[in-house]
Amino acid sequence: MERLPGFRDFYPEPLPHSDVWSADARQYIFEKWRATARRYGFREYDGPPLEPLELFTTKSGDEIVKQLFDFKDKGDRHVALRPEMTPTLARMVAAHERNYRKPIKWFAIPQLFRYEKQQKGRLREHFQLNADIIGEDDPAADAELIALLIDCLRVLGLTAADFVVRLSSRNAWQQFYAARAGAQSDPQKEYRFYQAIDKLERTPRDESTRTLSELGISINDVDSFITGGEPTAELRPILANLAARGMSDFVKVDYHVIRGLAYYTGVVFEAFDRKGEFRAIAGGGRYDNLIELISGGKVKLPALGFGMGDVVLLELLKSRKLLPAFDAGIDVFVMIEDEALRTASLEIIQQLRSAGYAVEYPLTATKSDKQFKRAQELKAECVVRMEKRSGDELAVKARHLKTRNERIYSRQAWSAALESRSPLA
Ligand code: HAM
Repeated sequence: MERLPGFRDFYPEPLPHSDVWSADARQYIFEKWRATARRYGFREYDGPPLEPLELFTTKSGDEIVKQLFDFKDKGDRHVALRPEMTPTLARMVAAHERNYRKPIKWFAIPQLFRYEKQQKGRLREHFQLNADIIGEDDPAADAELIALLIDCLRVLGLTAADFVVRLSSRNAWQQFYAARAGAQSDPQKEYRFYQAIDKLERTPRDESTRTLSELGISINDVDSFITGGEPTAELRPILANLAARGMSDFVKVDYHVIRGLAYYTGVVFEAFDRKGEFRAIAGGGRYDNLIELISGGKVKLPALGFGMGDVVLLELLKSRKLLPAFDAGIDVFVMIEDEALRTASLEIIQQLRSAGYAVEYPLTATKSDKQFKRAQELKAECVVRMEKRSGDELAVKARHLKTRNERIYSRQAWSAALESRSPLA
């Protein structure tokens, strides 16, 4: 039985095949993301992976709607696997925002599903760090969020030579469009225009020229707006704030960015690798009207956030050789050489685990040399075994595999040493 195209199997390392993904590498980036988000004062939330279809059809924009995994459930509800987290977050915040002080700073690492054409950097499922700030319209919030994005990449060893955050403004593009469309501006056309700008770098030039001219806009006009690239009044304080943090090297104003999703309202940004080899590592921006829209006008709160996917990031980290070696070594291998000592050995195994050590042992009767080989394969730091002494007395022998130091404890001394966490020192 094959897995579905665009979906991944995650195996523990060492990987058995080039076609599978590393569960260890995934865990590694999740831990770095979590720790960084917490350092910035963000709290973790989560929501359901399955939502009513209309949560996405009304809010996310055409492109994502075309990519939905949707179906009727057994109760005849039209549902969809979440393609993104932002509408769920908006729904959750609108329902209970009164219980939280503003600004709300939350993060999540959901698995998301989009029926996309499978290609480099794009699959049909991915994990995405989402970090959002709700209830603050000052540009200080934009800068705080972008600083978090930068640090989520820096903690993985990436530098300003590896990636850049391209900062832009949908307001600036709105003004550009309004000045050209004049009074006959129609929201459908305006959204098509944003889509064309979003795809400009990935679309053949003739095709973009044609689409834009159908909308009454010249591609040369678009080009000179992009190359002009002067920071607008809303971008300047963000750049100054990031400069104060020593992060100027990680950002640049770039009006190629406009974002494909329909709900963005103001400042938008995307992170890319500097060499331009990969798709976007992360993307986000302000969506000041979404919570109002989702709550049917009941709750009005400005908001902004970003999503950072695991697929492009893992490809980039691999290509820059920034992933550590994941050899899941254990702390202790408990050998059971005499089956009469299994019961007593199980007791010390559990004692060791309660004390926080990672412990392995043979589940069934096994020859000593095989046990020792297994301890070495598992890269155990220590081997522990019980031994019978004179009479009924038992002793515990602990041996460091690297230093070859060996210590022998009476049963009592062992328990005391474990309490002070020193038996394997
Ligand atoms: P997005 O730009 O659609 O934004 O996705 C954010 C990131 O998720 C992308 O830059 C990319 O790294 C990754 N990604 C998206 N689709 C795929 C895919 N099919 N395969 C692999 N990786 C993918 C959003 O989803 C917004 N909701 C982000 C946001 C949060 N805006 C405000 N708050």
